[in-house]
Amino acid sequence: MDHPALMITIHPLICLAFLGSLPFPATSSMHQLLASGAWLSTSSPSIFIFGASLVDAGENAAAMPLRSYADFDPYGSDYFGKPVGRWSNGRTFMDFITEGLGYGHIPAYLRSIGSDFTHGVNFASSGSTAANSTAVGNNSGGLFCLLVQVDQFRDFQDTVMSSGHYIGLEEKARLRQRFSDAIYFFETGNNDYMDALDQFGDSLDINATVTTTIAAMKVAFEAMYGLGARTFIILNATPTGCSPEVLSFMDDDEEVDANNCSALWTDIVQAHNKRLIELLDELRDNYPAGEWVLFDVYSIFMDGYLNPSSYGIVYPFRACCGAGGTYNVDANVKCGMDAQYINGTLVKWTKCENPKLYLIWDFIHPVESFAYYIAQGVLNGTHLFPSFSLKARVQQSLQ
Ligand SMILES: *[C@@H]1O[C@H](CO)[C@@H](O)[C@H](O)[C@H]1NC(C)=O
Ligand SMILES: *[C@@H]1O[C@H](CO)[C@@H](O)[C@H](O)[C@H]1NC(C)=O
Ligand SMILES: *[C@@H]1O[C@H](CO)[C@@H](O)[C@H](O)[C@H]1NC(C)=O
Ligand SMILES: *[C@@H]1O[C@H](CO)[C@@H](O)[C@H](O)[C@H]1NC(C)=O
Ligand SMILES: *[C@@H]1O[C@H](CO)[C@@H](O)[C@H](O)[C@H]1NC(C)=O
Ligand SMILES: *[C@@H]1O[C@H](CO)[C@@H](O)[C@H](O)[C@H]1NC(C)=O
Repeated sequence: MDHPALMITIHPLICLAFLGSLPFPATSSMHQLLASGAWLSTSSPSIFIFGASLVDAGENAAAMPLRSYADFDPYGSDYFGKPVGRWSNGRTFMDFITEGLGYGHIPAYLRSIGSDFTHGVNFASSGSTAANSTAVGNNSGGLFCLLVQVDQFRDFQDTVMSSGHYIGLEEKARLRQRFSDAIYFFETGNNDYMDALDQFGDSLDINATVTTTIAAMKVAFEAMYGLGARTFIILNATPTGCSPEVLSFMDDDEEVDANNCSALWTDIVQAHNKRLIELLDELRDNYPAGEWVLFDVYSIFMDGYLNPSSYGIVYPFRACCGAGGTYNVDANVKCGMDAQYINGTLVKWTKCENPKLYLIWDFIHPVESFAYYIAQGVLNGTHLFPSFSLKARVQQSLQ
């Protein structure tokens, strides 16, 4: 593994948590919305999203334009008709989830122009880690690690709670209730392991890394609980060891698991997912007023890899967009990157003819058509534990 997979392509960045205050003020359109009462008038629960590139809706692209390859063609081409900072050919599974609730798409926090925060805010930042992170090498992405996203939420909440002197005590209490009625999604952890492997290779201490990652998640969840969040939907780690990205980097003698995926990655992901279940049990004990729901996204991905035909997929282990090789992943020229002459040969990416025949879009992120299936796991409730009906929650509030 030479490269962390989920990253932007520029200078080292340290997690901005270390800088103390946030560099970005609440956006002016947000203030306008709040002033007009649009955000306040909604009667259904808001959705707040935290995490990394699987659910980033343009946060990194807004913060640092044209520095990640998700900002370039052919990203977004099959739905938006242009790149929109999402690591997909179209919508992410979060987009499908919020569409399924009748909410449309939840905009990125920093997307200030033309955004409508009526139904919530998406803080997810590509490459971000659960742990406070410092950059390793020149390519360590992760603009806003989890605690920074929590601070951004805090800032948003403060802004809402103090938006205008017309807000009296009663109104404040109502607003506070709205934050407690909201639903909070978290997709985090994958990049902690990407970065750790990048740093330590196969001498990585899996247990220690998982311990650090889970501890960081716990700190963030407790902070959010303290800010009034009560309904948490937390994704487990995806089977990265089967991704075209990881498979393309594996040496011939590297150990594989029963599915021919990276054994090292499988061990990491299984350890993380086991410890996550334990963490959620602990949180249920410590905070019984909270709902701590696991979203088993791992199983949906795994089913896609192992039973591709149930999803109409023909090439589960091959990326739709890339510059060749068995898995259609070339680290030198990934999907969206400029073509390059390498040893005298022009290397450039191509996009597959029919993305629906694939599971993975670029090297690790799903194609839009598979993101749809992931979303059904939440909307149907089939992959939420303990059972939880998001649709019922939203409909109930409208009655
Ligand atoms: C992470 O950063 C926060 C500040 O944002 C700090 O309070 C906390 O102690 C740090 N955690 C660790 C494990 O270093
Ligand atoms: C980081 O970038 C600088 C300037 O672009 C370059 O000189 C250096 O070799 C790079 N380091 C690594 C580890 O890639
Ligand atoms: C994993 O690490 C934790 C904390 O460092 C330690 O308490 C635990 O015994 C370790 N477990 C294993 C299986 O090594
Ligand atoms: C794994 O790869 C080996 C060697 O290429 C092959 O013989 C075997 O059938 C594969 N197993 C699975 C489960 O795909
Ligand atoms: C270019 O060719 C040299 C010599 O065959 C080889 O060692 C090197 O890995 C090649 N570079 C790339 C990026 O393929
Ligand atoms: C979810 O529901 C849709 C529509 O009812 C159905 O087509 C789909 O098969 C379900 N998906 C799962 C994973 O149960």
